[in-house]
Amino acid sequence: TVKRRPMVIGNWKMNLDHVQARQWLLEYASSNTAWQHRMEDADVVVNHVEIGVLPSFTSLLAIRDMARDTTLDPELFFGAQNVSELDAGAYTGDISAQMLAALGCRYVLLGHSEQRRYHPEDDDKIDRKMRVVLDRGMTPIVCIGETKLGREDGIGIDYALNQLVSAVRLLSGEDMSRVIVAYEPVWSIGTGMTPDPSVIESALADIRDFINATFGADVAAKVRILYGGSVNPGNAAEIIRRYGVDGFLVGGASLDPAKFAEICHLAA
Ligand code: G3P
Repeated sequence: TVKRRPMVIGNWKMNLDHVQARQWLLEYASSNTAWQHRMEDADVVVNHVEIGVLPSFTSLLAIRDMARDTTLDPELFFGAQNVSELDAGAYTGDISAQMLAALGCRYVLLGHSEQRRYHPEDDDKIDRKMRVVLDRGMTPIVCIGETKLGREDGIGIDYALNQLVSAVRLLSGEDMSRVIVAYEPVWSIGTGMTPDPSVIESALADIRDFINATFGADVAAKVRILYGGSVNPGNAAEIIRRYGVDGFLVGGASLDPAKFAEICHLAA
């Protein structure tokens, strides 16, 4: 069986300018060190969790410079919250995959429900964004999830699966094995409400079944599937224990570096 590396990603959304981002990282590095010591005392290996943040475009450079600082050693990767599906040219206000790769971004978040809601983001563009991100050697984190209405209508996971079907249609099996899927039920984002852990487990199993049916068992065994929506230090341990949960995409709680460090260590 393939062992998938657990991961925790902080999505800062439209928060923290570059000065605040630097401050965040300093505080995170010291909280992280404190946790490392506690875990070492308890004999737990924590270094295998992959940890990343998704700052605003304007904070990426500051984070890049600090993440490289070996005296801080935060062991932190970073990425962007969106990208253009186009290569370059007269597209005022857009940011290309090449620009993000040049900054050293490891991830690009795609299809977040807030992008789908507040911008003309659609399934058709997301599949092309997946392609440009992979072509530049970065990892797409594709968000899927149903709204509250969808859930009450009983079409919850099917709605999310349809988004995934569309997002991955230009990908080969090899491409797909590099993709990270984040299941974020829209009604749970920023609300403090989370589905029952057993519901999360079964939603993630349905997602893995779809990948299995479409790309085969080898690919399905490699793809990391995260849960997102009101994750905090109080519920992370219970959710990560569930079968098939490879980690978290954290919004609000990731803005507090100490809380974020705690969630990362609970995922170990
Ligand atoms: O992308 C993460 C996110 O949408 C979840 O936000 O604030 O509920 O953790 P939050």
